[in-house]
Amino acid sequence: MNRKVTPHIVFERAKGSKLYDNQGNIYIDYHAAFAPYLLGHNYEPVNTAVAKAMKDSWSLFGSGTNHWEQELSELLCTTIDSLDQVQITNTGSEATAHAIRVSRAYTGRDHIVLILGGYNGWHNEVARAVMPSLEQVGHRRVKDEYPFVPLSAGIPDSTKNMVHIINFNDLESLEAMLKKYPIACVLTEPALQNIGVVHPQLDYLNQTIKLCEAYGAVCVFDEVKTGFRVGIQGYQGIEGLKPHLSVFGKAIANGYPLGVIGGKKEIMELFYTNDTAKRVLIAGTYNAHPFNSAAAIATINILKNENIYERLEKMGDYLKNGLLDLFDEFGIQVSIARNGSASCVYFMDHLPVDLHDILENNDIAFDRKFRSELIHRGIYQIPIPCKQASISYSHTLEDLDLTLEATRDFLKTI
Ligand SMILES: Cc1ncc(COP(=O)(O)O)c(C=O)c1O
Repeated sequence: MNRKVTPHIVFERAKGSKLYDNQGNIYIDYHAAFAPYLLGHNYEPVNTAVAKAMKDSWSLFGSGTNHWEQELSELLCTTIDSLDQVQITNTGSEATAHAIRVSRAYTGRDHIVLILGGYNGWHNEVARAVMPSLEQVGHRRVKDEYPFVPLSAGIPDSTKNMVHIINFNDLESLEAMLKKYPIACVLTEPALQNIGVVHPQLDYLNQTIKLCEAYGAVCVFDEVKTGFRVGIQGYQGIEGLKPHLSVFGKAIANGYPLGVIGGKKEIMELFYTNDTAKRVLIAGTYNAHPFNSAAAIATINILKNENIYERLEKMGDYLKNGLLDLFDEFGIQVSIARNGSASCVYFMDHLPVDLHDILENNDIAFDRKFRSELIHRGIYQIPIPCKQASISYSHTLEDLDLTLEATRDFLKTI
């Protein structure tokens, strides 16, 4: 359902930075299928690793451990400082569901804290509206929570009652929740990347971890969007932080379905403890599927050994500066938030600090028009306001220049 957008385009194939539709149109892609394609669509070395796994008869055994699961786990634990141990899933949603469950088992508490404007998957506990309206959430509150506006029908009230939603960058409200309720975990994207790109303020993430520790809650960083895209250690690596648990997905396998939950041994060992009363179920027929694991191993090795992030940084900066100059030339007020290869143009006069800031200040109608007009000019960003644009390693300077030309062409019409 969240793929049903206007204009409705039937895509046929994709390669590198380009999408091809069934009408013969070609688009430079910034949607990246909701961000996993960090290296580009159908990136040959990753596809080759998957093809080799098939040729070598890697199969799904569903019993014991296998060598690729071991290799991928070791690669993750040696690459990301906060990971003592990991478990491999198929999606980010599975990883966040397991993070909540294992946090509840570890703390013996049921309530959780989520962030307004965050997205953590589709399951009951986390499926609140990503961009509710001001009417739905109400105005900004001090030391308080916001209502759970469901993103789906069918979520029981008993589930909603255990979820406490606060604004990003709001440590006072976080502490109020930790004081008021028995909180098992605080689940947060380290930078909100489902309402564009909203950066954490100085020391906010560090203080979040510290507050969790002071009140005995587990701090979970949801790095499904930021992980591997912003840097090899995710956003936590940029700030040198060690959350108690982290979840990854998307860019980790460059478009193949794979998720990860990992973190502190004393929490992760609940997944296999001999004490059956404490043991937390983690199951899934396709967990650590050989082809997806092969893709993840290849992707991580490429990201570790080649100069990918430097190029993405330069390309991201080039596009941001080019767009800023253009909007300035045409007298349109914008702020562009960028986190490496991920960025978002906001039609407001400052960078947002939280969802309220966006709801109160961003010109959403113009945002929608900008996206649609660019699609008609061969530049694809999903036509939903405040969705991140993602550059891949396959994008060229020519792609970026064509994007700037298309933007100029649109701005000339208004
Ligand atoms: C931050 C974040 N967490 C979790 C998820 C869920 O991941 P998946 O779609 O792989 O289930 C997403 C997906 O967009 C996400 O952006």
